[in-house]
Amino acid sequence: MQIFILTLFPEMFESPFHCGLFQKALDKGVMKVDIRNIRDYTHDKHHTTDDAPYGGGAGMVMKPEPIFEAVEAIKTELADTNIPVILMTPQGRLLNQSIAKQLAQYDKMIFICGEYEGVDERVREYLVTDEISIGDYVLSGGELAAMVVVNTMVRLLPGFLGSPESLISESHTGGLLEYPQYTRPPEFRNWAVPEILLSGNHAQIAKWRENQSKIRTKQRRPDMI
Ligand code: 6GU
Repeated sequence: MQIFILTLFPEMFESPFHCGLFQKALDKGVMKVDIRNIRDYTHDKHHTTDDAPYGGGAGMVMKPEPIFEAVEAIKTELADTNIPVILMTPQGRLLNQSIAKQLAQYDKMIFICGEYEGVDERVREYLVTDEISIGDYVLSGGELAAMVVVNTMVRLLPGFLGSPESLISESHTGGLLEYPQYTRPPEFRNWAVPEILLSGNHAQIAKWRENQSKIRTKQRRPDMI
């Protein structure tokens, strides 16, 4: 998967993509990430990327020209005009595991990190093919949200996770939260691991886990039932 990220703050992406499993995905070539500064696609002396809103009001609006140019440059480089162009905005479709799965099907895509005040509507109307939000709260910009989306997608790619089975049982995949997990030691400060998990009876363990998932989901996320 080849991911392009257009942002005014490329530095924000340095460490998140270079830790743990993410770095591994880059090393393995499962994913390629190309971070581009929108400012590099301006032509005026001051490298202007935003301007006051027409009609007045607070804040600044991201100008359309550098964003269009950046996207068009990538399309030309790839010789592909059909690449998905996703705007990160609190007005977008709310991210969930099923949207992450949909997005993980693409072999390449461009993310535009909008600033909270917004981008010129013509970007939305004539350039963007999808808009994603990560939740009903306000971030100063789309950068953190883009990292969240890329993280959800990339761990679904074949060859990314050590064991694909961990995708099957994890929270939100099967519509329930995950069951409680334990590891050694069997007793820690007088708190014992549930005996069933030490029994070696795999059918009983599976039943216990399924039941725990249901209890947990009912208690914490009744909206998911
Ligand atoms: Cl994608 N952007 C911003 N600025 N705020 C958000 C968001 C995105 N998703 C939730 N809040």
